[in-house]
Amino acid sequence: MGPKARGMPLKWLWFIVLEFSLLSLVEMYGFRHCTQYKFNIHHVLCVRKNITNLKESIHDLPEYVTHLNLTHNQIQTVPSRSFVNLSNLVDLRLEWNFIWDLGPEAFQGLKNLTLLNLVENKLQSINSSFEGLSSLKTLLLSHNQISWIQENAFVPLINLQYLNLSRNAITTFSNVLAAVQHLPCLEVLDLTYNTIASLDCNPTTLVSLTKLILMKNKLVDLDFSTLSLPNLTTLDVSQNALQNVHLDTLPQVKRLNLSQTCLEVEKLDAKHLQNLIELDLSGITPLPNTKHVNLSAVCHLLQNLPRIETLFFQKNGIDSENIKHLANCTMLVSLDLSHNKDLVHLCNSEFSDMPSLERLDLNSCMLSLVSNMTWDSLQNLTVLDLSRNRLKTFPDFAFAPLRRLQSLSLSRNPITELNNLSFYRLHELKELNLAGCWIVAIDSYSFSQFLSLENLNLRENNLRTLKKNTFLFLKNLQVLTLSYNRLATIEKSAFSGLPKLYKLDLAYNILSDFHPGMFLGLEGLEVLDLSFNKITYETLKSLQPPPFKDLQTLKRLNLEGQINGIQVVPINFFQGLGSLQELLLGKNSKVFLDHLQLDQLPNLTRLDISGTKAGNRGLYLNISLFQKLKQLKSLQLENNNLDSLAPEMFFGLEGLQIFSLRFNNLKIINQNLLQNLKSLMYFDVYGNKLECTCDNGWFKNWSVSTPTVHIPYLGSFQCQQPNTQSLLVGFDTSICNFDTGKICFFCSFSLVLATMVCSWFGTKMISSMRYGIYMFKSLYLAKWHRTEREFVYDAFVSFNAADEEWVYKELVPALEKVGQPTFKLCLHHRDFELGVDIFENIQNAINTSRKTLCIVSNNYLQSEWCRLEVQLASLQMFYDYQDVIILIFLEEIPNYRLSSYHRLRKLVKRQTFITWPEDFQERPLFWARIRNALGNKTVREENARLILTDPLGD
Ligand SMILES: *[C@@H]1O[C@H](CO)[C@@H](O)[C@H](O)[C@H]1NC(C)=O
Ligand SMILES: *[C@@H]1O[C@H](CO)[C@@H](O)[C@H](O)[C@H]1NC(C)=O
Ligand SMILES: *[C@@H]1O[C@H](CO)[C@@H](O)[C@H](O)[C@H]1NC(C)=O
Ligand SMILES: *[C@@H]1O[C@H](CO)[C@@H](O)[C@H](O)[C@H]1NC(C)=O
Ligand SMILES: *[C@@H]1O[C@H](CO)[C@@H](O)[C@H](O)[C@H]1NC(C)=O
Repeated sequence: MGPKARGMPLKWLWFIVLEFSLLSLVEMYGFRHCTQYKFNIHHVLCVRKNITNLKESIHDLPEYVTHLNLTHNQIQTVPSRSFVNLSNLVDLRLEWNFIWDLGPEAFQGLKNLTLLNLVENKLQSINSSFEGLSSLKTLLLSHNQISWIQENAFVPLINLQYLNLSRNAITTFSNVLAAVQHLPCLEVLDLTYNTIASLDCNPTTLVSLTKLILMKNKLVDLDFSTLSLPNLTTLDVSQNALQNVHLDTLPQVKRLNLSQTCLEVEKLDAKHLQNLIELDLSGITPLPNTKHVNLSAVCHLLQNLPRIETLFFQKNGIDSENIKHLANCTMLVSLDLSHNKDLVHLCNSEFSDMPSLERLDLNSCMLSLVSNMTWDSLQNLTVLDLSRNRLKTFPDFAFAPLRRLQSLSLSRNPITELNNLSFYRLHELKELNLAGCWIVAIDSYSFSQFLSLENLNLRENNLRTLKKNTFLFLKNLQVLTLSYNRLATIEKSAFSGLPKLYKLDLAYNILSDFHPGMFLGLEGLEVLDLSFNKITYETLKSLQPPPFKDLQTLKRLNLEGQINGIQVVPINFFQGLGSLQELLLGKNSKVFLDHLQLDQLPNLTRLDISGTKAGNRGLYLNISLFQKLKQLKSLQLENNNLDSLAPEMFFGLEGLQIFSLRFNNLKIINQNLLQNLKSLMYFDVYGNKLECTCDNGWFKNWSVSTPTVHIPYLGSFQCQQPNTQSLLVGFDTSICNFDTGKICFFCSFSLVLATMVCSWFGTKMISSMRYGIYMFKSLYLAKWHRTEREFVYDAFVSFNAADEEWVYKELVPALEKVGQPTFKLCLHHRDFELGVDIFENIQNAINTSRKTLCIVSNNYLQSEWCRLEVQLASLQMFYDYQDVIILIFLEEIPNYRLSSYHRLRKLVKRQTFITWPEDFQERPLFWARIRNALGNKTVREENARLILTDPLGD
């Protein structure tokens, strides 16, 4: 085989590779206006993206999308065949747009679509736009301006079950009917809030219709004589000015809503309502010249409805005598008497003739007294709603007759304390709602009667303390809500005796610390919400004992939004939470996780530290923080103003699928960042400041060619350089195939050389020459020194004389004297050897110090010495392959001032700089960060170890 023949396949291979890379460019996995939903790639969201051109905005979506959400945009028209490439769509949301025009066959091709939402648009008429929607079950057209529907518009919708046309401008019922009679499966037709005045129409039958809603129209006469609705069971004609009702053709109706109509009850003929189970007569007209409703007529009607079970009788101004009257004429199962403002006292056996009652609503009345006499015969009552009344206290045994009661709501009453005798015998109660009362204190006797209680809601009260054993008797409690109180203290064993408690909500209180043993006894707790309290720590010091050590079954912990930020998370804070899966730490203004606190959470799958908004100053994460989180699937660091990230931080996250850095200030996505994230599926960097520079060349190429990782809105990322409109995906990376770092170094190095040579004959000849020589010498020396070097100092401090005061007043005391460990610093004036050349001194200082601390200020940048020091330290870095420079910014330095320092700029882009905070409160955090950057091992410790080991070694 000749060389020529061997060359051919290679060439083809090359073509294939080229072809493939072009293909993957086309299949870019990230769209311009849309994003896949994190947890399901078949769901796509294009919400609030100012989309005007529908077709253009969805042209890049893959065919497999099943759910598409286009709400809150500015779409005006849906052109013909807009979705032909999305034939798998099942659910399409187009609500909250400005759509006035649906093109013919607009939805052609959507054979599997079952839901179409066009709510809140500007449609005025419906034409033949629904061609092809043969699977559609739900069509939502409410909140438009529809006044006319073409007769054949709905013909293609052979499976439609639910049609909502509420809040439109429909006046003629016959027009709607002509269109909907073509819907063989229609079950529910909602025409709420139109202007239909009569039901005149040609004789029509809607066989499948079961529910018709005509609420809030202009109906005066209700006459169904020309309309045949054989399966209609629910009819709502509420809020019409009805005067005449003819329901003789609808004998099968079971549920009838006549609330807020002007109907005189005596006009209703019970003969035609023999199947009625549920009747709503709320807010019906009172008798002429009185403010009372005609109760006798109501009673007469009810007496003749053999199957009636449920009566809604709200807003009818009835009093306790009326209730007796009503109770005497029927056997109800459910009675709603809410909003009857004449109900003040109920304690005279009002319900004694209703022994069958199972559900009673008395909310929003004016009740100030109830007693056991109120319900003495209601043995079957299971649900009682007394919320929003004026009940302050209850007499002893007030609820004793209600032996079967399962749900009791007393929320929003001015109750200040709980008398356990009032609740005597409520042994069956499962749910007790006391939200929004004025309860000041509770103890174990408050709840001693509720042996079956599963859900206790004490939200929005005035509780300040929880004492020991408060809930001791609630052996079956599963959910306890204590949010929005003023809890500052929770004593030891406050929750003991709650073995079945699954969820505990303590959000929005003022808890600032944890009493030892406060969570004792919560053996089954899975969800704990401590968000928006005052939990704050200033040091890493271990807590004795660790606060959550008794919560071994906890799966979800919410610590978001602590009032001053959670700040420094103590080393053992999460100890004992071996089952924890979800940890929420976001919305804290400051979060400092400087150690390996998360190592105690081996089962963590979701971590969210979003919304600190404080930038690198307020959010600090140790570089090894995530190393043990092998189960982590979702990591959210959104909305944090982060400028940079240390890639090494994420190396351990092999199981990570969802990684969101949305809304930060990242300019560069480092290649190493995603290096070990083998399971990544979703990488969100939307809302950052990505630059189209060679530093991002890798990211650009990778993002457009990796079909396994979705990058939300990738197609919309704009280059963040000034004066450019170009997109990151359009950035040409072919110019970037060099190691720019090295080039820049050699450029600056040759520049120094050139300067030296040029100024050889200049005025600065001697100094420049020495500068060059030392650069040269150090390069050589550094190379030579590279392997073994002994450190004398922990850090060499490079600063300008103008900042001397800060160094001696703040830095030196903080690092050399206060706190543990202490560090040994090298400062020129103090530690430089006298008589030795200054260059040599600097060189020595850098070489014998573990790190170099550069105190950067505007003065510093002007000084030649400082420039040299940075260069020398950079050189050390260049040969040691490790970061030795720590930059401390004493003031804001405009970006352009940094531009002549290539290294400095590069460092600034990474996370290795720390800014001196003006705010006194932030300083402990500042020093903690400096200490962390200097490392835990100090020269002193190292020397101590040497001294210890040396004699043994010999
Ligand atoms: C949409 O337009 C408004 C006003 O023109 C603007 O404030 C907003 O940022 C835009 N939103 C997007 C996602 O472009
Ligand atoms: C569509 O997006 C809107 C706005 O974010 C949201 O309220 C709605 O729940 C979404 N609908 C679906 C079905 O995802
Ligand atoms: C429609 O759904 C069925 C199953 O529900 C599926 O088999 C079919 O492929 C889908 N058709 C289209 C065109 O997506
Ligand atoms: C509706 O009523 C008709 C008879 O009037 C009956 O044949 C049909 O099964 C009923 N149900 C539905 C869902 O159409
Ligand atoms: C209850 O009805 C009976 C007859 O049905 C009547 O004798 C009695 O007076 C009524 N009681 C009340 C309180 O209306």
